[in-house]
Amino acid sequence: MARLIVVSNRVSIPDPTGKSSAGGLAVALREAFQGREGLWFGWSGKVSAHPSAEPKVIDKGHVRYALMDLTATDRREYYSGFANRALWPVMHYRIGLSEFSRADYAGYLRVNRSFAGALARLIRPDDLIWVHDYHLIPLASELRALGLANRIGYFHHIPWPAPEVIGTLPGSQDLLRAITDYDLVGVQTERDADNLRRGILQECDATQHAADVIALDGRQTRVKGFPIAIDMSGFEQAARRPATHRLIRQTVASLGSRSLIIGVDRLDYSKGIPERMESFERFLISNPDQCGRVTYLQIAPTSRSEVPEYASLSRTVSETLGRINGAHGEPGWVPIHYVTSAYPRSVLAGLYRIARVGLVTPMRDGMNLVAKEYVAAQDPEDPGVLVLSKFAGAAEQLGGAIIVNPNDKAEVAEAIGVALHMDRAERIARWRRMREVLRRYDISWWTNAFLKELAGQRRTQKARSPASV
Ligand code: G6P
Repeated sequence: MARLIVVSNRVSIPDPTGKSSAGGLAVALREAFQGREGLWFGWSGKVSAHPSAEPKVIDKGHVRYALMDLTATDRREYYSGFANRALWPVMHYRIGLSEFSRADYAGYLRVNRSFAGALARLIRPDDLIWVHDYHLIPLASELRALGLANRIGYFHHIPWPAPEVIGTLPGSQDLLRAITDYDLVGVQTERDADNLRRGILQECDATQHAADVIALDGRQTRVKGFPIAIDMSGFEQAARRPATHRLIRQTVASLGSRSLIIGVDRLDYSKGIPERMESFERFLISNPDQCGRVTYLQIAPTSRSEVPEYASLSRTVSETLGRINGAHGEPGWVPIHYVTSAYPRSVLAGLYRIARVGLVTPMRDGMNLVAKEYVAAQDPEDPGVLVLSKFAGAAEQLGGAIIVNPNDKAEVAEAIGVALHMDRAERIARWRRMREVLRRYDISWWTNAFLKELAGQRRTQKARSPASV
């Protein structure tokens, strides 16, 4: 079997103590590396005075981890700057928040080139290469320029917006062209796939070769939806284990007979956290009998705080939280509990299981695995209800949820009320529909479907001489 080479900005090295919890991509790749030799290449997460010429290599069983340090300038321009201040907001339809700078864009291209240079020396001709996420879109072009003709796949974990939206970003035409240096491009939904194909066709003199294949300069790229999934059985098991973690015990004790509503998100403006808090406030205002009878727990680990828009979001959330709790709280009852620590999946599974409502209302989200995990964690005899934004990729699969538009706070408030009062028979019927989908399309389906499709691509991509790039 061909070796699998995974490339992503963040690399998750297995923790021998088992204490730290693996992210969604790490869980997926554990599956992909099963029974085959592999290499996972990316940023070490460290900043050093000099750029790494060679990666630091760590061997763990049949998987090798190759880690590159960044300089402070690289981190600022490539990661905080272009990837997270320019690309991220545009990809999430927030054109007004996008801050483009030529220096950041040059830094983004420079880091991609330096990663490609270090990676190319580790690659064998029959290796299968799988690149992940928006930090590394130009990587295939750089590898082709270094003489690699391997099959290279790319998975885009966040939304791909409509051509008019991505077109607002300087450099977007080059990014769209760079996408065509991959053999296979996976996105989360059919809507994203359609957006990306239309973008390439409109901006790059490309032609449509088949329903999901774009041709440019003799090379072909397949663009398809592969909705990312969760380890369904692992998560179901974790949710069934007795709750021993302090946070779960304390939550159960403090709830008493109150119902729990839960939200779990990285602190990011795409997640709609202040909007969600205000929707909950609307619910309290229109249902005064529910004051003191329901608690909303929002877990929101801090994220990318060096980016100004994230620092400002953190202030907005604190102000909104303080205002709502001040206005509606009573002695002995705080309406919204807010926690910024990150918890392992096992703890989250326990919390999801005791929550009557899973409130997942991003303004825009590639997939949203919290929605899937909430469903997986429910008690089959007495499941809770998922309230889900129509702008999360997961809404294409989870029709059993109450689907809402997060821009309409009154609609979200009504959905909270409907969810809290839904009878058991309807909760079970809705939940079973979703569980079936999640069981059929679980994480093994996702990794196998992508890798099988990549390995089966007809070879049309060629190495290029640097001069022709
Ligand atoms: C999103 C992205 C990932 C990223 C994660 C955390 O899920 O799709 O690529 O790793 O956010 O963000 P961070 O900037 O901390 O890596």
